[in-house]
Amino acid sequence: MTTPRARLAVLASGSGSNLQAIRDDLVARGAAASADLALVVSDRRAAGALERARGWTIPAVHLPKDEGATLDRLLREHAITHIALAGYLQLIPPDVVRRFHGRMLNVHPALLPAFGGPGMYGARVHAAVLAAGARVSGPTVHFVSEHYDEGAIVAQWPVPVRSTDTPESLGARVLAAEHKLYPWSIHLLTSGSLTLGPDGRVHGVPDIDFDRELP
Ligand code: GRF
Repeated sequence: MTTPRARLAVLASGSGSNLQAIRDDLVARGAAASADLALVVSDRRAAGALERARGWTIPAVHLPKDEGATLDRLLREHAITHIALAGYLQLIPPDVVRRFHGRMLNVHPALLPAFGGPGMYGARVHAAVLAAGARVSGPTVHFVSEHYDEGAIVAQWPVPVRSTDTPESLGARVLAAEHKLYPWSIHLLTSGSLTLGPDGRVHGVPDIDFDRELP
């Protein structure tokens, strides 16, 4: 018996480059993919993420701020089983967070638990990393919990901070790492390897050899 593929929703506020990386990974996996991209939601009408999704004829919905009940309804209508937040700037309603416990991931562009929390998004994160004098940064993929950027950590990837970096140059280097780490993590989750235990601990993530590509 074959396991049904997960139905993935991606929620994004920006250009959607992570959405693109997720979609590229699913296409590359072909029949071996463990998920179908079933819905893209954005709080910004002009988000590049919506435009990309329309180009692939995937349901793309503009959901303005404060329409929490609508988000829950949309997810049900599209029979969504898993959610990936990709630069989504709205808070997820607590009932949705609870319903998708262990099935919703986020990518943050710094090494949590440092440089996270409310207000830490976009260039601000990279500016804070540079201001602190940190010599390494990188993306963190984590489960979404009721507290901003505090859910269990799934995977991280180290990215060097250069002495000549600006928030933009550092952000671009971290983003390139996000594009590899996030689709890999999503595949682990939707294929059933990655789980969040009742003890709040993450299981099923292979150790990463940072001198090599992802397994
Ligand atoms: C990424 O850096 C992500 O980590 C952050 O927002 C950015 C989204 O970029 N939270 P994109 O829309 O995927 O290009």
